[in-house]
Amino acid sequence: MKKRVYIADFSDHVGEEIEVAGWLYNQRSSGKILFLLVRDGTGIVQAVMSKKEVGDELFEQAKALGQESSLIVSGALRKDDRAPGGYEMWVSGIEIVGTSIDYPISPKEHGTTFLMDHRHLWLRSKRQHAILRIRHEVIAGFRDFLNGRGFINLDTPIFTPNAAEGSTTLFETDYFNAKAYLAQTGQLYAEAGAKAHGKVYCFGPTFRAEKSKTRRHLTEFWMLEPEVAYMDLEGDMELAEDMIEDVVSRVLDRRAEELKLLERDIGKLENIKTPFPRITYEKCCDILEKYKTEHPDEDGVEFERGEDFGARHESIIAESYDRPLMVHRFPAEIKAFYMKRAPEDESKVLGFDMLAPEGYGEIIGGSQREDDYDTLLKRINEHNLPVEAFQWYLDLRRYGTTSSAGFGLGLERTITWICGIHHLREAIPFPRMMYRLNP
Ligand code: 4AD
Ligand code: MG
Repeated sequence: MKKRVYIADFSDHVGEEIEVAGWLYNQRSSGKILFLLVRDGTGIVQAVMSKKEVGDELFEQAKALGQESSLIVSGALRKDDRAPGGYEMWVSGIEIVGTSIDYPISPKEHGTTFLMDHRHLWLRSKRQHAILRIRHEVIAGFRDFLNGRGFINLDTPIFTPNAAEGSTTLFETDYFNAKAYLAQTGQLYAEAGAKAHGKVYCFGPTFRAEKSKTRRHLTEFWMLEPEVAYMDLEGDMELAEDMIEDVVSRVLDRRAEELKLLERDIGKLENIKTPFPRITYEKCCDILEKYKTEHPDEDGVEFERGEDFGARHESIIAESYDRPLMVHRFPAEIKAFYMKRAPEDESKVLGFDMLAPEGYGEIIGGSQREDDYDTLLKRINEHNLPVEAFQWYLDLRRYGTTSSAGFGLGLERTITWICGIHHLREAIPFPRMMYRLNP
């Protein structure tokens, strides 16, 4: 029996007889020599086969294999700086595990719809492989960062009895003859958790019936939500910037190869150092008004003070900064019911959005929560929310209320920015959007 080795672990096995179990990525032949590019999920190796060594029959079988056939290749491993990946296998045998005829995704260009319809296969392609490895690193980085600071992971439900982020994007579902809604956020439950553990985070899929077809909206996306009791808005922004700085530097450190494959401008990520600038909503409005006067003919930059920012507005605001930027003190009318009002101006909330640079827009939304029972009850009524469904949430103010703050980080938007890719649909294995439920 030969030793089965992953390509990623090759450096420990140079000179040994090994076997690699994988799929045929590509092949070319030159007379009596066949070069097979084999990928095993952890890397790609060039396996060199000579007709003389393996015999006519096996040679011809291998030569006839289609792209993505599964196979186990055995042979001697040697270092070769000219070979892709830096190693080469000198093949002594091949076991064909499964054939693959007319694999739909060839190296030629395909349209996005076609690739999305074949997402289950597209995942094997180099770029998609790199993006999802970065996703893995980003998730591990966020967890390690928060765990390292003593946070407890507290999971929150997906079936919920009420809206938390506005009723227009709720997915309703039948729940034993009653109505349930898919969670838009885990925040309200994380607040309960923070009162039990001090600092917690929830991390899971969240759902919004977004009828928009932008490159920044999924209907199912992953949100990471830390929540800390006795924390205020300032502490919240500090936590957010520290976390982003930490994870970006981890990805630079551990996923350099993937970033290179994606042709990411590394310099832009190396800039991501705290402190991130903080500017008020009002200041952003000044920037937008100035921009409008300087670009009178540009469409789509119209803006009324008091409105929420659109994608184009966010890009304009972020344009002059080389790192993420935190916009705080939004008008209360455009934000959620639970945000605490600013003491110096009741019309503003103690909330912030983090905007990524390079036009990627909002990646984080957070706030200090209303901690006063009577005020919160008033807000629930003002927003026409069903008070009954929020009794448990009000209990958090009835029994030992404290200041509390947290934020929600959109995982796919963050990955899209770190990877420098255009559309967030590639930042999740199986994206769900308005017109995309398959595969
Ligand atoms: O700003 P949002 O709506 O904040 C909340 O849900 C708070 N309850 C979070 C909290 O304070 N614990 O959403 C947070 C983030 C956004 O900044 C964005 O990155 C992402 O979630 N997000 C989406 N990502 C992809 N597709 C969508 N449709 C998204 N909607 C929000
Ligand atoms: Mg938001």
